[in-house]
Amino acid sequence: MSDTNGDGRIAGSINGLARDSDLPSKPGPCALVLFGATGDLTRRKLLPALYSLHVQGLLPERYAIVAVARRERDIDGYREDALEAVRAYAPAVPVNRQAWDTFADKIHYIKAGLHSDDDFRRLGETLAPIEQEHATEGNRLFYLATPPEAFSVVVEGLGRHALTAEQPDGPWRRVVIEKPFGSDLASSLELNRRLTAVISERQIFRIDHYLGKETVQNILVMRFANRLFELLWSRLYVDNVQLTVAETLGVEGRGGYFDESGTIRDIIQNHGLQILTAIAAEPPVTLEADAIRDEKVKVLRAIRTPLRHDVAFGQYDAGLVNGQRTPAYRSEPGVAADSCTETYAALRLYVDNWRWAGVPFYIRSGKRLARRLTEVVLQLRDVPDVLYSRLTCSEMPANRITIRIQPNEGIEILMGAKEPGAGMRVQPVRMRFAYEQEFGKAIPDAYERLLINAMLGDASLFARHDEVDLAWQILTPVLHRWGDPLTQPNAYAPGSWGPSSGDQLLAADGRNWWNSG
Ligand code: BG6
Repeated sequence: MSDTNGDGRIAGSINGLARDSDLPSKPGPCALVLFGATGDLTRRKLLPALYSLHVQGLLPERYAIVAVARRERDIDGYREDALEAVRAYAPAVPVNRQAWDTFADKIHYIKAGLHSDDDFRRLGETLAPIEQEHATEGNRLFYLATPPEAFSVVVEGLGRHALTAEQPDGPWRRVVIEKPFGSDLASSLELNRRLTAVISERQIFRIDHYLGKETVQNILVMRFANRLFELLWSRLYVDNVQLTVAETLGVEGRGGYFDESGTIRDIIQNHGLQILTAIAAEPPVTLEADAIRDEKVKVLRAIRTPLRHDVAFGQYDAGLVNGQRTPAYRSEPGVAADSCTETYAALRLYVDNWRWAGVPFYIRSGKRLARRLTEVVLQLRDVPDVLYSRLTCSEMPANRITIRIQPNEGIEILMGAKEPGAGMRVQPVRMRFAYEQEFGKAIPDAYERLLINAMLGDASLFARHDEVDLAWQILTPVLHRWGDPLTQPNAYAPGSWGPSSGDQLLAADGRNWWNSG
């Protein structure tokens, strides 16, 4: 039975399935154990996201937050720091005394070094009474917000002390692993081998926080909840696809990490390829995690290995941005003075399958670029050169569909329209959908959605091991610079759109990047 609400929405259920699936369900009771609890990620993202979920009433009825870190901290001091972090990084979330106090009561702090069996034994012993106090029924979400070298060490320690063990019909135990998951194919396979010696793939939730962004989730909705776009979505109509992940910030005190990583590992291997697969994948059979991930894996398997002429590398130089002097990448703290690490990369990729053969997917990402902007542009093929083309203004471009991931989230279609008045002149005009204007509310942080989904056991917004491995496999020759690790990146001015080699990549194909926003 179904019925129509006053606003035209359909209410009721089909085959017993609730139709209000847009409302997030509330997870069951659980303890959330945060490793790396005094680190940057916990302060900037996890605690603010958890508090925001608490205020919205989206956390379980019964839960505990167990912060684990190496430092000696008293619980009041840790709760004070947590409050400061929430105020600093979730300024839009109201902090009132009552809401904060009920949240703070759920927070516990355990000092543990995580290297010796004593540490894990103590962790288990301290966790048990906390679980009892909050009646979390033994369900545990372990969140590894630690440096990557600790991932397997922590999981193995938890395993030795049976903290992640599951019994049939018993409580669930899950582990959320932050990125980076390995640093190349070999290390990713090895990490996976060590994790799956202790826990099953079903228990592992690999974070790519871009998958938690509303605008990335909306790519599938846009494609498969509408008739309009899917008709155009193939080599028959799409000339090329351009994906930009641009940041204005430099490495911001993360020089040590970034110099070992670079843009290909930091952004392209995960966020970049995840967005590309959402754009290129076939419709999944259902919205279940594995159905979606199966389709993404097929796209990754079809991507041709990029050759040297398909890639441009850049590194930011010293310069002036808005009147402020900014240092060269090589002068940033933690960065080698002769570093060849790329802070910018642009790639030409081909998805060699029936739908996309011959359509270039250009991906670029960089730090200290002109604007903070993440977007995908699908440029359609030109119309036949017969009717209006000679009447258009000189710069009338082909139609473009722009999916703006951030900021100014939305979708825009560029098309030609007759300029009013006598005669016939065709001008480019834009049709826009803006999230904030349309829905009248700010977009929640990606971590809110990811934390809830992990508690619910929904892995659709997390990467499966074969996705991660294939992404590394595609990029391994690029990471190894095709056997010449000292390949020099091209210098670019801060505040620009990167080195000219990034533009030449498209110019060689008779195209150019579309910057907007
Ligand atoms: C992270 C990278 O995964 O994503 C950072 O490690 C980058 O280097 C960040 O700054 C960008 O995320 P967002 O959500 O700000 O686009």
